[in-house]
Amino acid sequence: MDLGIKGKKVIVTASSSGIGYATAKRFLEEGAEVLISSHDENKLLNAYNTLKGISKSVYYMKIDLTKPEEVSSLISEGSSMLGGLDILVYVTGSPKPGNLLELTNEDWINGFNLLLMSAVVAVRESAKIMKKGGRIILSTSTTLREPIDNLDLSNVIRLSLAGLIKSASRELASKGILVNGVMPGWTLTKRLDQLIKDRSKRENRTEDSVLKDLVKDIPLGRLANPEEVANVIIFLASSLSTYVTGTLIPVDGGNIKGIF
Ligand SMILES: NC(=O)c1ccc[n+]([C@@H]2O[C@H](COP(=O)([O-])OP(=O)(O)OC[C@H]3O[C@@H](n4cnc5c(N)ncnc54)[C@H](OP(=O)(O)O)[C@@H]3O)[C@@H](O)[C@H]2O)c1
Repeated sequence: MDLGIKGKKVIVTASSSGIGYATAKRFLEEGAEVLISSHDENKLLNAYNTLKGISKSVYYMKIDLTKPEEVSSLISEGSSMLGGLDILVYVTGSPKPGNLLELTNEDWINGFNLLLMSAVVAVRESAKIMKKGGRIILSTSTTLREPIDNLDLSNVIRLSLAGLIKSASRELASKGILVNGVMPGWTLTKRLDQLIKDRSKRENRTEDSVLKDLVKDIPLGRLANPEEVANVIIFLASSLSTYVTGTLIPVDGGNIKGIF
């Protein structure tokens, strides 16, 4: 089935591993031209070299998402490398785990830059370049709908991304640019390993028992593979979703209990 993605020029942030990497891979498999990015040069080069095996139309640029000027450069220089920009997939790094009494002012400022400011800059700079038909997709978290204990940076700051998606979708609709998001639930990536270790330490129990408890609460009875999140992102970037904008889709195996 032709998804209308072949030849599209795509930037995927935070894509040396996990959800971002799986998304970049899916776009390359669909025949897009993809620029990947992250802030650890070795990891980024490894990802680039592996993806090169799928398609020669892959590029990379090292940037730190906590630095707004580097996010700006990613969009301007990245789109020059690609020869334009049709699709931005914004994924970000993982905020430090912690609760209100543990996190310092500095943690909150870093969290703000990583989770929100980078998204604002990436969306704004992409919107300046994109033409009619452009797509902006932000990968966030189910913490947007249901807070998770000891993930306060995510619980608080990511809520703003819902506002950003809604505001940008309304503002950019007249330019023919669609703006949406996904909310991954527990997904098999390095981030999950980090969270399981953190919880196991806090609650003084084995990592295995933490993992079993997480899975127990998921109606589908298992964790997500990053490719399952990537597939929903591909849908939002495809010609199948031309009347979808301003929305956030959970990809969580049914884990969010709330109806709205
Ligand atoms: N896994 C889950 O269960 C889950 C659920 C909901 C939401 N999320 C969120 O999804 C996002 C992606 O995480 P993941 O699960 O795919 O984990 P992951 O495999 O650890 O991927 C994180 C990615 O972020 C990049 N990154 C980290 N800090 C960065 C920075 N300052 N600047 C640029 N890139 C940076 C990493 O690359 P480098 O290290 O190479 O820089 C890596 O490519 C995170 O925000 C995470 O909190 C994850």
